[in-house]
Parts: sequence; structure tokens; C-alpha cells
Amino acid sequence: MDALKTVVVTGGAGAIGSRLVRRLLEHHAESVVVIDDLSSGYEWLLPVDARVRFANGDVCAIFDLRLELVSPLVFHLAAFFANQNSVDRPLSDLRTNGLGTLTTLMWAARHGVQRFVYASAGCSIAGHGIDAPIREDMPVSLALDTPYQITKTLGEFYCNYFNAQVPAVRCRFFNSYGPGEVPGPYRNVIPNFIWRALHGEPLVITGTGEETRDFIYVDDLVTGLLVAAEATGAPGEAFNLGTGIQTRVIDLAEIVIKACRSTSRIEFAPRRPWDRSIHREADISKAKSVLGFQPTVGIREGVERTVDWFRANLDRIAAVMVTRG
Ligand SMILES: NC(=O)c1ccc[n+]([C@@H]2O[C@H](COP(=O)([O-])OP(=O)(O)OC[C@H]3O[C@@H](n4cnc5c(N)ncnc54)[C@H](O)[C@@H]3O)[C@@H](O)[C@H]2O)c1
Repeated sequence: MDALKTVVVTGGAGAIGSRLVRRLLEHHAESVVVIDDLSSGYEWLLPVDARVRFANGDVCAIFDLRLELVSPLVFHLAAFFANQNSVDRPLSDLRTNGLGTLTTLMWAARHGVQRFVYASAGCSIAGHGIDAPIREDMPVSLALDTPYQITKTLGEFYCNYFNAQVPAVRCRFFNSYGPGEVPGPYRNVIPNFIWRALHGEPLVITGTGEETRDFIYVDDLVTGLLVAAEATGAPGEAFNLGTGIQTRVIDLAEIVIKACRSTSRIEFAPRRPWDRSIHREADISKAKSVLGFQPTVGIREGVERTVDWFRANLDRIAAVMVTRG
């Protein structure tokens, strides 16, 4: 990737956004403006670098931030995360993921942004009951299971609506994991498993363990975002960013226990009522052919790297678990 000028990352203090910011700096971005209200992100995740400008604020009020900048490129990752959280607080979900995305697109149109990369979700769009790999051209389901899935899809509608003014690429993330994701009640399974395994607590699977997900290592996902920001054929399109590989949750639990050298047991609890997707797998052939996207980190290696990050940041993570956990 050529040297970048000013790049805006909303949600840049979050799990994925903070890794994206690091990579943008490695790619010689002149400056990276992070817009984040720290509702689920942490300033300590951001690299200490004079080129990073942190604007602590709400994307729903992005015009009020009065950011005097010209940026050709926006990565819109700020979101109310994720399914269970949206079930518990659907209005907050709609506000950030719906209104926040619409407002950010309006702001991007006003500021002449030339490419808008939107963080959509592989868990939405297609609904549940699909065992086959999910393709981008599958029909949009009208029977989505959570408010989060609805509002992530809504964001895609707004991207399409604005596309003539702000060329937008819709990236559908499958289950991201890796350094930067702090565990918590509304966070993904892998950081929560690792935290419990490091403390010898049982790993609780909500379901039978036969459920599968397509887990993608965060730095592979970030690679996908960077190529989506550059590829000529990308604007107006949607791309699955996953691996095309399913992992059973029971196997994941065992991988985590081994990586943590833990004595934790595995326990089972009922599946959450909204969680009706048994299997998830991305068909990434479109991302491969149009973007040249190819994930490289396997689940065992990715979990080991994530455990290393946990061990190096245990005090900070523990402090979060006390205040937010
Ligand atoms: N992690 C995954 O597995 C996954 C899967 C599919 C899609 N996504 C999408 O990827 C993006 C990043 O996810 P993540 O895992 O890094 O989550 P995250 O919660 O770590 O990051 C979201 C960031 O947005 C910030 N934020 C929330 N509301 C805001 C607001 N109103 N104004 C400004 N900032 C706000 C949070 O403080 C946080 O730093 C999100 O859009 C999410 O929906 C993630």
C-alpha cells in the first residue's frame, strides 16, 4: 500500500480498530484520526505515536467535533457491540449503528471522502438456518435474529444509498479474535474463554459445542480492510472477511485450554434464545478474486498469539474486568 495521508478510523480504540490504526501507521499514514467515545474501547489500546490524533466523541455527533481535516479515507468501525448487547438495549444499538452510521456517511459526503469502508457483520444479512458457506449475493433475510443484525444490515443500506457521493465498501466480518479484544459479558467467545482458562475457571459453552463459527485472526481481517480500501473494483460491493473454515466451539475450547496450559473444565449451558445460527462459514471466493484477500493465521497459532497478548496485558485487562466485567 502506498503512503497514506490522513485516515479517519471511527471506533479506532476498539478491538479491531486499534489493530487497524497500528497497521496504518506501519503503512506510513501521515496521520490517523481516531473517533471513539470509549464506550467499549480503551485509549491504552492505541499506539503511542505523534501521528495518532484521538477525538473522544460520539459518531452520532460527529459534526459537533469540528474536525478540521481533509481525509480521503474513512474506516467506519464504531458500533454498539454486539448481539446480546443489542437484545438488552435495542435503542442504544439503533442509535449508534443506525443513526451513527448515517451521520458518519453524511459527514463523509460533506468532507469529500473518496472511500468509506464499512464494518458490517457476517452474522447478519443472511439470517439463520444456513449450513452452506454464506455468499455475498445471498438474499437479505427479513427474519434476522437480533437488533444488531438488523442495524448492521441497515448500515449497508445507507452505504448503498450514499455510494454515488461516498464510494463505500461493505466488509462483512465473521468472528474476529486476537490481541486487543478485552473480555466481558458482551464480548466474543475467545477472549472470554482465554480469561477463564488463565484463571482455571470452567469454560461455559452455550449450546452443545457442535456449533461452528468462522473465526478470523484480527490482523488477517485488518489486511482485508486495507485491500478493500484500495482495490479498484471494491466500491459499491460487499465482501466476506472470514477464513472459509469452520471450527466447532468444543474444539475451540480445547485449543484455548491447551494454549493456556490450563486445568479448566468444559461446561454446557442452554443456547441463548436468539442464537439460532448453528453453523457459520464465509465463502471468501469473491474477496479472494477481487481483493486478493487470503487469511494466513490458523486458529491454533492465532489463539496462541492472543494468549501471549493476554499474558502481557493481564493487569490492564484485570482492571477492566473489575470495572466493566
Ligand atoms: N469483533 C467481531 O467479531 C465483529 C464481527 C462482525 C462485525 N464486527 C464489527 O466490527 C467493528 C469493530 O468491532 P470490535 O470487535 O472492534 O468492537 P469494539 O466494541 O471493540 O469496537 C467498537 C468501538 O466503537 C466505539 N464506539 C461505540 N459507540 C460509539 C459511538 N457512538 N461513537 C464513537 N465510538 C463508539 C467503542 O468505544 C469501541 O472502541 C464493529 O462495527 C462491529 O460491529 C465485529
